[in-house]
Amino acid sequence: MAGPWWRDAVVYQVYPRSFADSDASGEGDLQGIRSRLPYLADLAVDAIWLNPFYTSPLHDSGYDVADYFDVDPRFGTLEDFDALVTDAAALKIRVIIDIVPNHCSSRHPWFQEAIIAGPGSDARERFIFRDSPNNWQSAFGGPAWTRTQDGQWYLHLFDSTQPDFNWRHPDVPAMFERVLRFWLDRGAAAIRIDMANTLFKDPELPDLPEDAPLAPYYDQPELHQLYRSWRKILDSYPAGTFPGPRGAVAEIWFSSPGTVRPYLTKDGLPQTFNFRLTLVPWAAAELRAVIDEACELIKDSGGSMPWVLGNHDITRLVSRLGIDQALIRHPTDALKRGEAQVDVPMGTRRARAAVLLLLALPGTAYLYQGDELGLPEHYAIPASRREDPTFRRTGGAAVGRDGCRVPLPWSGTAPPYGFASRPVRTWLPQPTDWATLTVEAELSDPDSVLNLYRAATHLRREHPALGDGDMTWLESNPDELAFTREPGFGFVANLGDKPIYLPAGSRILLASGPIVNRGVPADTAVWLQH
Ligand code: BGC
Repeated sequence: MAGPWWRDAVVYQVYPRSFADSDASGEGDLQGIRSRLPYLADLAVDAIWLNPFYTSPLHDSGYDVADYFDVDPRFGTLEDFDALVTDAAALKIRVIIDIVPNHCSSRHPWFQEAIIAGPGSDARERFIFRDSPNNWQSAFGGPAWTRTQDGQWYLHLFDSTQPDFNWRHPDVPAMFERVLRFWLDRGAAAIRIDMANTLFKDPELPDLPEDAPLAPYYDQPELHQLYRSWRKILDSYPAGTFPGPRGAVAEIWFSSPGTVRPYLTKDGLPQTFNFRLTLVPWAAAELRAVIDEACELIKDSGGSMPWVLGNHDITRLVSRLGIDQALIRHPTDALKRGEAQVDVPMGTRRARAAVLLLLALPGTAYLYQGDELGLPEHYAIPASRREDPTFRRTGGAAVGRDGCRVPLPWSGTAPPYGFASRPVRTWLPQPTDWATLTVEAELSDPDSVLNLYRAATHLRREHPALGDGDMTWLESNPDELAFTREPGFGFVANLGDKPIYLPAGSRILLASGPIVNRGVPADTAVWLQH
């Protein structure tokens, strides 16, 4: 491997609350993750990214942090984190943590102090308090401002329990420098930066015109100086021993290539997520355009853009690909309104092909827990059990993200499917028809989604053409994706209805579905050796 590890790693996203529950509390925890490390090693992942596990009232499942320097008792202790890092390192797995710098919890001592100190105080300057609100809306629905008892309003781009920091107050960058060093010193190999493009707001806080392409809280120029300073911190960690040089990946849902380009520099953050594969329909031309756009963006930039097919904010891959693709951008709500039906077998077929595409593309790939089992979105969560603040803030009009965050099924035939060692009410209910989707069931089925993932991640690790590098498109029909990577690797996917025939002289390394007489059927992908 020529470049730093993060440029071609396979990273597995662990959503701690739903991964494995060591104390039968109904919520997952760090000891649970630790106990399942052999499963992750067997999946040949190079790193795990942990969603927030800090002290938090969990109003937004941990993205509302009350103490950035500690572990919430529901997830364990700092010692559990250290033990997890040590055990993971023994299996050559790096641990990436989530940094949440845009906002904290309203229970954070700084916000509590600001509320008590009142208007005009320095404590309020660490947040964005004003005498009157502007027209900004919360990403979770409703206004982005909440009024305090003394009449002032504070800004929260998310829930009212998540006040936005004022990044122009010196205490804020100073605290986050300490946060970074605290976790990097404890062995975190990289950081994932939540809402990395919204930390600074236009100081005038102007109203958002109705047709504005970009809100005045995105991509403010000061971000780049901040991230150059973070890069210096990351680079100051020793490169020689495991986990080696420290990485960072920014969560940026960019609207156009022009808005993300400034982040892709040699001295800024090393990586920015590329979510484009999750936004386009299952169609060769659209996928190819997204891949070309990314290759163009990173060329000579010094940055790189990990590929993503799913995460804790997005409708599950199988369900996304199993609906009418015209609805791809809002599948969960479309379904709830009865506008779409999921064809699970079709979604699964496509999801299998999609992961072979993901793992064949140049660069880093992120896998979301449960996608390796082919879990569909869980739509039938009763209103009384929904946790996502989006559901509450929109009066149920938007169902939110709970359906992709359901506790993992490990074994057995009924909930909690081995998620906890004894019967327990899990924090989100699990469907009753997941018996064939458990890790245990899939390990014993040679044709399972899990065994396809395992085969692909192991092959990717061994094949010299895979990971970071270049790719070359082959001439193909409009419903086909076909490219080569050197030395010796070929990729073919059929996104149309008619079979496609594999080129002569190539040997099949892996296929996402049955191949008969070298014909690749609809919604199937193949890895080739030539
Ligand atoms: C995270 C979400 C979270 C939001 C606010 C994100 O984009 O991925 O899960 O709700 O930031 O922190």
